[in-house]
Amino acid sequence: MKLGLLSTANINAQIIQGAAETDRVDVAAVGSRDGARAQTYAAEHGIPRAHSTYEELLEDTDVDAIYISLPNGMHHEWTMKALAAGKHVLCEKPYSRHPAEVEEAFDAAEAAGLILTEAFMYRHHPQTKEIERLVREGAIGRLRSVRSVFSFALTDLTNVRADPELAGGALMDVGCYCVSGARIVAGDPVSVLAEQVVGETGVDMATHGTMRFWDDVVAQFEASFLAPERQALEIVGDGGVLRVAAPWRVDWGGELRLERNGNSERVEVELANSYRLELENFAHATEFLASPLLGRGDATVQARTLDALYRSAAEGTRIAV
Ligand SMILES: NC(=O)c1ccc[n+]([C@@H]2O[C@H](COP(=O)([O-])OP(=O)(O)OC[C@H]3O[C@@H](n4cnc5c(N)ncnc54)[C@H](OP(=O)(O)O)[C@@H]3O)[C@@H](O)[C@H]2O)c1
Repeated sequence: MKLGLLSTANINAQIIQGAAETDRVDVAAVGSRDGARAQTYAAEHGIPRAHSTYEELLEDTDVDAIYISLPNGMHHEWTMKALAAGKHVLCEKPYSRHPAEVEEAFDAAEAAGLILTEAFMYRHHPQTKEIERLVREGAIGRLRSVRSVFSFALTDLTNVRADPELAGGALMDVGCYCVSGARIVAGDPVSVLAEQVVGETGVDMATHGTMRFWDDVVAQFEASFLAPERQALEIVGDGGVLRVAAPWRVDWGGELRLERNGNSERVEVELANSYRLELENFAHATEFLASPLLGRGDATVQARTLDALYRSAAEGTRIAV
């Protein structure tokens, strides 16, 4: 698959590294708002072609698929343009907090016979699959609750994450992982309740959320730009607990532990590059060799849940998802 990078975002580095580790994907081109930046970026990363506008990248006939690493608020517009140009799309998380945009994008992709998938890279990692398997097979008994955190200190308020016009905010940036991480074991939320701390730029600098699921399962999370770097996921059943030290950025390192009957055992997980696995799944899907791991259903429920959490915080009440 010949991939075009739409922007010179920081996160591209992970995708370029992931592509370097597989023979399924070649990074063929990059597009930037700034032609000189595109040229420099292409030269630095050994990318064959540089385009001075995003439109020019979409017109590149030697590109099969586009990786959209724009700020959140631009994901939908450029996904629609990329699909209209006949390209498959891997779009960074969170696709959008607006369910209607997700539906519109998947309608367009399906009508054109193209793959669209949301880039929750941690979902592709063997650790995540092991967590899903352990819970599904009853390793912790009946699921009762989930707790998670994803935080880091955002001090540069010129960062896209602090810009309300670009759909910044802690819930969008890191909270979307906590929502996703609860959903992999608990399914789709029924209702949510959220408290937010809004910063001087107008985005939520922290969101503390509660999600209620079917079968009386409750998940709580903290997504924050106001705390040191932390990530953790704790999944509690009536017969044990799974503790995941590095649930989202698995490459930052940490153990998966299963505690039950007074014992704590380390669960061995294969080392792997989430971004390589994500790219391989995307490439295989475009060749009809695999289903995309993350499709319409997942992205729609993600957007519905994020939207409900924002509305809950604004209205000070529980919101049905
Ligand atoms: N999956 C992951 O592990 C992961 C990790 C980090 C971020 N992300 C996601 O990736 C996306 C990008 O995040 P990032 O931290 O990499 O962003 P970033 O470094 O700030 O890059 C965003 C890029 O978007 C382009 N852009 C277009 N209009 C812009 C505007 N008005 N302001 C700023 N940039 C603009 C710029 O590229 P040009 O100037 O070249 O056009 C810029 O380099 C977000 O959706 C984020 O949630 C995912």
